[in-house]
Amino acid sequence: MILGRLNHVGVATPSIDDSIAFYRDVMGATAIGEPFDLPAQGVRVCFVDTPPSTGSGRGTQIELIEPLGDASPIRGFIEKSPAGGQHHVCYEVPDIHAAKAWFEAKGVRVLGEPRIGAHGTPIFFLHPRGTGGVLTEIMEAPGDGH
Ligand code: CO
Repeated sequence: MILGRLNHVGVATPSIDDSIAFYRDVMGATAIGEPFDLPAQGVRVCFVDTPPSTGSGRGTQIELIEPLGDASPIRGFIEKSPAGGQHHVCYEVPDIHAAKAWFEAKGVRVLGEPRIGAHGTPIFFLHPRGTGGVLTEIMEAPGDGH
């Protein structure tokens, strides 16, 4: 496997609305998506774009995630860090199933089966115990138009 681009940094927040205001008014973000619910993942999501480094292509995003529902997988994170904080990083790969087989062969624990993530392409997470403590999302790269 060859490491792909950093697609996004996941940031957990108790309030997406407050975080949007922060990224817009303090960080100067000019491209902020509409928040949307992702019930299958137990989160409400909003993407904040950073510009591409070369002036073309896709920049890296900040993925704001707010707990959605009592069983949200990030509810515990917010209870431990009530102000929110960095939650995960996400790298792109060309083929999600090849990537899963690769990490399993390396002895890194894959959390669950590939499933459709917030960008509409398959994702899985790697257990932080196998990644130097960083919760890592692996995402099949979106096709053209994303
Ligand atoms: Co993510």
